[in-house]
Amino acid sequence: MAVPYLTSDPNSFAFTSATKRWPVILTQAIDAVFRAIPGPSDEVKTKEGRKIVEELAKLKYELQHNRVLSPLRDDGLPDIAHYNDALVALGEPRWLEVSWLFSECYLYRRIATYFTTTTKWNTFDVFLSSKVTTLRSSLPAILELAQRYDSITTPSTFTDDASSLLFHEIFFICLWGNATDLSLLTTLTYEEIQSLQGSHARKESEKNILANDLDKIYTLLTSLKASGQKEIRVDIVLDNSGFELFVDLYLAGYLLSQGLATNIVLHPKNHPWFVSDVLPSDFEILLNALNDPIDFFITKNESEHEVKHELKTEDAEVITGLFSSLAAFYAEGKLRIRTNEYWTLQDPFWTLPEHEELWEDLKSSELVIYKGDLNYRKLTGDAAWPPTTPFDKALQTLGKGSGCRTLALRTCKADVVVGLDEGIDEKLRQEDPENAKDQAKRSWGWAGKYAVIQYCDGKA
Ligand code: F6P
Ligand code: MG
Repeated sequence: MAVPYLTSDPNSFAFTSATKRWPVILTQAIDAVFRAIPGPSDEVKTKEGRKIVEELAKLKYELQHNRVLSPLRDDGLPDIAHYNDALVALGEPRWLEVSWLFSECYLYRRIATYFTTTTKWNTFDVFLSSKVTTLRSSLPAILELAQRYDSITTPSTFTDDASSLLFHEIFFICLWGNATDLSLLTTLTYEEIQSLQGSHARKESEKNILANDLDKIYTLLTSLKASGQKEIRVDIVLDNSGFELFVDLYLAGYLLSQGLATNIVLHPKNHPWFVSDVLPSDFEILLNALNDPIDFFITKNESEHEVKHELKTEDAEVITGLFSSLAAFYAEGKLRIRTNEYWTLQDPFWTLPEHEELWEDLKSSELVIYKGDLNYRKLTGDAAWPPTTPFDKALQTLGKGSGCRTLALRTCKADVVVGLDEGIDEKLRQEDPENAKDQAKRSWGWAGKYAVIQYCDGKA
């Protein structure tokens, strides 16, 4: 059995995360709370806000001085005992001598307790402002995709080849929505799909997909549709809000319109998580933005941000049209949001079958799509598997015969990777310019440049 990556391993991105990234994230959180303290107009909120600032500063100190991870304060939610029992089992670990996955989840859950134990800050999203800024800066890509929405959701007049190509393109957009590199989005046009001329840039990005099981997903969903099966449920375990949530909803709209799914269940987080992850409130923000794009992207943006956009009335209407389609699916119950505290536990997803209600629910889905890097780390236990380990082996209890179909759409932002062909990891370590400087590290996998689309049919 492979061992989890540790924050003490200087060759792992775990070490860089714990020593460089987390202190910055904590500083930004302190700043966000500090700016939101109301002053004399609300004494209780001010007092509580000051206390949160102190607690965040103390947490940062403990992290930077490699102190022992202290038990989480009981905020009345049932997962606290799960974290604290794990801490005991780990034997009082220190920040720089602990599993990366455990400590990173603990970090965000601990931050959450500072808010959940107050009276005035318990719904405050400490990462909201960066999420909103990123969403606002995504207007050009959102508009571009919205302009194509009608053509991709009109019941198909495409040839088989064209509909397969379109399917792949939409999934690629959904995949790369998880990376910072959104250059793929400039390449998809309806004409290209029809003429089957894959664009240069798409081909370029495709080269960076190191394992690609998408053909199997196309076969699965088109066969289910052709079989006339009444219900085809697809689940998406979400990752980030803003543009990534937009492309997830775009995928949902496409699958529902084309009859490749009859209902879609989306799984967000319950607490502000890994900075940008989706909370239920992020749906509201995104949907309001799509409903009134001029207000969100232009009017409210002007006072706050340096990124300036223009939006013509007819373009705003295109975005509102997309909103109406999604709102109709939501009203009809075809698009649903389901929360569960499981998604903010520290567990690898190998423990999913122990959470009977959630597991039974997921098993009734035809396909569960896990978005992003953290979900992939949890699927594989964030462990140092040899990179050629079969995906289904790394899934452990979620692998073959589990009863659940698992698809990972992941851009690589951490060390763990499985399911690669022999020699790929070695080749990238030598060729990737960053990695060439230090081949003991797998730094080619840290920046979201490469991706994997991996599937295991646990119902087979
Ligand atoms: O690699 C940096 C990192 O913050 C990881 O700690 C984490 O797994 C990931 O990025 C979050 O990325 P994503 O939003 O794709 O899950
Ligand atoms: Mg995330």
